[in-house]
Amino acid sequence: MENHQTQENNHPLNDPWLSQARPDAQGRVLWLTGLSGAGKTSVANALTRTLAERRISSTVLDGDLIRARLNRDLGFSAADRTENIRRIAEVARLMANAGLVVVVATISPFARDRQLAKALIHPCRFHEIYINTPLSVCEQRDVKGLYARARGGEIAHFTGIDSPYEPPAAPDLTVDCGDLPIMQAVQVLIDFLLLPDVG
Ligand code: PPS
Ligand code: MG
Repeated sequence: MENHQTQENNHPLNDPWLSQARPDAQGRVLWLTGLSGAGKTSVANALTRTLAERRISSTVLDGDLIRARLNRDLGFSAADRTENIRRIAEVARLMANAGLVVVVATISPFARDRQLAKALIHPCRFHEIYINTPLSVCEQRDVKGLYARARGGEIAHFTGIDSPYEPPAAPDLTVDCGDLPIMQAVQVLIDFLLLPDVG
């Protein structure tokens, strides 16, 4: 009996680091929304590495990568973005139900699509995180050269240029990533995960 208890206590899903909120609080979705180049992917990847160091199982669902495979049939019309988000939300729901911390990194520019994702996943498991980096900063960084191409008319319907981004009206958390080092952004998310009312 004692052995059994010890084994259970050592199991990563029983790690008090996350379970101090609620015993079933591990499976949840951190939905990172923000402009292209805001830092969603960098923050998501660094966060999942930090969680792994703490033996918390997590995974990243990144817009670019999902679009390369699962959603390769979709473009960037409003309807395709809605379908993109719907599918990602369904996958995130399955993973969260299996106990993972799922870090979604998609622009998800439309408020109604994020609402749909929240409803599909479950309001208690879904946390809307606004990666708030001003358009001017994203455009100046232009890591992938996409803003320049969009300004040059090579890419149509580019978010922030000729396709809208609707900032969350009441996000669960806003991370101002304009001049915040990635690891400080990760720390903000870690602190958020530790809040007793999260989960
Ligand atoms: S969405 O709006 O949520 O469906 O977009 P998402 O699945 O996150 O994909 C965003 C990445 O696609 C690249 N890309 C574009 N983004 C916005 N608008 C247009 N027209 C576009 N075309 C290509 C871009 O690399 C985005 O990645 P991030 O990491 O956000 O920069
Ligand atoms: Mg990205």
